[in-house]
Amino acid sequence: MITEQLKKIEDEVLACTKCSLYQGRHRVVFGSGNQHAPVFIVGEAPGFEEDKTGVAFVGKSGQLLEKILLACNFSRQKEVYMGNVVKCRPPQNRTPTTAEQAACLPYLERQIEIIQPKIIILLGSTALKAFFGASSRITRERGHWQNWFQYPVMPTYHPSALLRNPGLKKEAWEDFKKVIVKYRELVDSQHYCKYI
Ligand code: URA
Repeated sequence: MITEQLKKIEDEVLACTKCSLYQGRHRVVFGSGNQHAPVFIVGEAPGFEEDKTGVAFVGKSGQLLEKILLACNFSRQKEVYMGNVVKCRPPQNRTPTTAEQAACLPYLERQIEIIQPKIIILLGSTALKAFFGASSRITRERGHWQNWFQYPVMPTYHPSALLRNPGLKKEAWEDFKKVIVKYRELVDSQHYCKYI
């Protein structure tokens, strides 16, 4: 059932011409991971590798994210589904415009509605602003639980920011530790993580 519902949205995205990003893309990056995942991770937009493969978070940022998830004892096969605010790669990896985001966001919202995660993680400023408005600030709001409709949301730094500025990794890890605590509260009290 979930598979068919997501497939319907994916078919719409594949045919989407609501903004100009479809013109330059090689692959739509619809989202990847477990369709029954309790944790939904939201990024910004596909990069070069994602555009080539059609899979979210497989480039350098994705590899760092994978390491963080491993430290949390989370995997795409089980606990996590990943998607982006926009599903087609912006040229030169520029930030998607607000119009592009507005055109694409309803697809992501529908994915979330279908998957019904227990926790949402927003990676970086673009995802945070897309959910909570332009006046949001990632430096101010990261690490603090927010509500988006019924969903608890944890904003944190985008892994690309951590690659540019490794000094931020410590704070990002504090945020992910809060996610593990919430995961134990809401999903699995026995969830093992060797760090906390
Ligand atoms: N950065 C993102 O925000 N999303 C991806 O899928 C890859 C890199």
